[in-house]
Amino acid sequence: MNHLHLHHTSAPFHAQLRLPGDKSISHRAAILAAIAEGTSTISGFLESEDCLATIAVLQKLGITIEHPEHGVFVILGRGGFFSEPSGTLDCKNSGTTMRLLAGLLAAQPFSTTLIGDDSLSNRPMRRVMEPLSAMGAMLHATGIKANPPLTIQGGRLHPIDYKLPMSSAQVKSAIILASLFIPGTTTIMEPTACRDHTERMLTSFQGSCFSLLDQEERHILSVTGPQKLRACSFQVPGDISSAAFWMVAAAARRGSHVCFDNVGVNPTRTGIVEVLKRMGADISIQPHPTTQAEPLGTITVIGTTLQGTIIQGEEIANVIDELPILAVAGALAHGTTIIKDAQELRVKETDRISAMVTNLRAMGATVAERDDGLEIQGGAPLNGATLPSYGDHRIAMACAIAGLFAYGETMIENTSCIKTSYPDFEEMLSSFTS
Ligand code: S3P
Repeated sequence: MNHLHLHHTSAPFHAQLRLPGDKSISHRAAILAAIAEGTSTISGFLESEDCLATIAVLQKLGITIEHPEHGVFVILGRGGFFSEPSGTLDCKNSGTTMRLLAGLLAAQPFSTTLIGDDSLSNRPMRRVMEPLSAMGAMLHATGIKANPPLTIQGGRLHPIDYKLPMSSAQVKSAIILASLFIPGTTTIMEPTACRDHTERMLTSFQGSCFSLLDQEERHILSVTGPQKLRACSFQVPGDISSAAFWMVAAAARRGSHVCFDNVGVNPTRTGIVEVLKRMGADISIQPHPTTQAEPLGTITVIGTTLQGTIIQGEEIANVIDELPILAVAGALAHGTTIIKDAQELRVKETDRISAMVTNLRAMGATVAERDDGLEIQGGAPLNGATLPSYGDHRIAMACAIAGLFAYGETMIENTSCIKTSYPDFEEMLSSFTS
């Protein structure tokens, strides 16, 4: 079990950082390439435990995948045909692997069982079971919370009109992936817009998913199947959710100047930029011309003394993975930062509301816990502390950044979880601070 030791730094941060590939986009690139007909080359793929779990599951489903060099996967798609696997499919810590593949597997004429690690085995699967059962698949999970193992008996499905009860790109994507195999049109109504990578990336594989706003400005997606996807070459952009840790560190330290090239700037993911701007940081996005489905850009952050803000409502889905590090930004900012409408944080890799409340309090911050978020009185000096990671990569990394601002030594326990999304984090941390 690894631990991470952090010491207070007072110098401004100056860095030009190369980011790892986007996690959400890497999962989807592998899955869409596996469904497509022909050989796709995915470059910039995030070789983290989560995304490698998706690769391993696809291989067990009969997809040949070559790995000629780091970050490059060549995927021999079988045009929508998969083989019945022997044994269970291990999604490890990855909710995205389990939920997206549940959609794909619901449309296959065989039975599969998806399993995960302790954290994933406690996460709710009813949210994917409901729509996929309504489409005609048979799904089974354990207990009243419908936790993994998740068994799926797929088969001939029919289209549905589904109103998502929560804003979830994983659930939306599971339904879209199932719909690709079904004759007819499935519609999905989203309560608020959330990351739209599946929809955009389908076009790279010559598929389609249309989105429109109805008269009441609600987001409706429609997918008409069956669709034949075609192989392509796909370049995965840098992950803005990984950039977020460095963005907050730089934004909160006056005199810092940090720049990220080739980062994904899909508008459903750039909420962190808007929040940090509201907190007073000088941040700009320079879009790059691209013919790819996913927008790319350079982000530059110039540091200042941050001010508190409120993060709530429709904005939450856009910053859902950045909320732990934004809670750290709140602790470093002057005034009050309120995060509300974020009850989804309680069902992530750990209960991220409770984890951040406990850890920020251990560092001396004044934090109130709410059912749907937290309220932080920022600006007081933080003290070094020994903090659990709760086995959650984003908690570990957010608290590591807090450790750079805290007086004395901070130790984050059990940081091997960081490998699920950012294997090079520790290495980047030493170059960021030197
Ligand atoms: C993801 C969607 C989000 C996010 C997760 C990745 C995705 O989860 O928190 O890290 O790739 O679709 P939800 O769909 O549960 O909101």
